[in-house]
Amino acid sequence: MKASIVLLPGDGVGPEVVAEARKVLDAVSAKFSHQLSYASHLIGGIAIDETGDPLPPATLTACKAADAVLLGAVGGPKWDDPNAKTRPEKGLLAIRQGLGLYANLRPVKSYPELIASSPLKPERIAGVNLLVLRELTGGLYFGKQGREQTDRGVRAFDTLEYVDFEIRRIVKLGFTLARGRKKKLTSVDKANVIETSRLWRQIATELGKEFPDVALEHQLVDSCAMRLVTAPGSFDVMVTENMFGDILSDEAAVLTGSLGMLPSASLGEGKLGLYEPIHGSAPDIAGKGIANPVGTILSAAMLLRHSLGLEREAAAVEAAVEHALAKGARTKDLGGDKPLSTGAMGDTIVEALS
Ligand code: NAD
Ligand code: IPM
Ligand code: MN
Repeated sequence: MKASIVLLPGDGVGPEVVAEARKVLDAVSAKFSHQLSYASHLIGGIAIDETGDPLPPATLTACKAADAVLLGAVGGPKWDDPNAKTRPEKGLLAIRQGLGLYANLRPVKSYPELIASSPLKPERIAGVNLLVLRELTGGLYFGKQGREQTDRGVRAFDTLEYVDFEIRRIVKLGFTLARGRKKKLTSVDKANVIETSRLWRQIATELGKEFPDVALEHQLVDSCAMRLVTAPGSFDVMVTENMFGDILSDEAAVLTGSLGMLPSASLGEGKLGLYEPIHGSAPDIAGKGIANPVGTILSAAMLLRHSLGLEREAAAVEAAVEHALAKGARTKDLGGDKPLSTGAMGDTIVEALS
């Protein structure tokens, strides 16, 4: 098949890890005789530097016309001035919203070979296979925010809002995904304190009646954070609002051994999706050629599966990652005495594909 992919390398380690994922996409498409074409566009800090806008209109237009989008990361200390007119992260929020990508899938799998890379006890993380399903275009990230001088001092505010349909569509997807897995859905909220969570819980309970074959449980987000490291094997699909999902998924990365391992897919109503590792621009290691490209490579596998419908090819990439890990390939973040560079890790995965 022919498909067009927009690459958004972004900032920091973004270009380094996207280059490796492209290598792997090229290798898998050659192996299965597909023709992928690529166009790179600006997003984030580099887009601010070149155009003044973290999401230039040309980038959004190109993404809308593509079959899928692969993104590295945005942000970094250069653009962290609190008085700056705009920020790289705004570009990321705008593209998620502009493409209507309300569902963020963050699969978390512990690889037997990497059990020693995690600081957690081996018996707790063995066999972990869960999915954090994060609502991506609502909640605290998109509510009214501001700052003003009052007679009590400087007042800053962010607003957490959800309309019922936004909750229903993501929780429904949670049930549907759980149906194809271990048939267990954990709806994570803070219903003991906040109103949006009470609406969330009510809707999840109502939807549960349409999915009698899926076991629904509700869990408060604070104790969920604890359970994620004490009994991670007890989760299947976890569905939650935007910011809770952001925080819980970085915590879940500890189960796999490194934040550099986790991929994500951001999906909406159609086939078009945005694929990115869950980590950021890692300014502390950017430019050193040591970033772990696996999260981005596994994101490329999700791209093949969800946007291009190429299940066999996606599975081949995932198998190549497992094979490379089984052979002992490790970037610095995963430990080991002879860490591979970003490029050598990508090459090892490409070799494992053939
Ligand atoms: P980060 O994810 O960039 O880094 C956290 C830690 O994990 C760092 O020590 C980093 O070196 C390490 N790490 C991250 N990715 C790695 C990889 N692939 N291989 C090896 N080690 C890796 O989070 P942060 O430091 O809190 O944020 C840095 C910047 O990234 C901020 O500007 C933030 O806004 C941005 N950010 C962007 C995204 C995104 O583009 N999706 C996600 C998170 C953070
Ligand atoms: C992520 C990041 C982003 C988020 C930031 C950079 C806007 O942390 O993709 O997880 O909070 O969604
Ligand atoms: Mn995050």
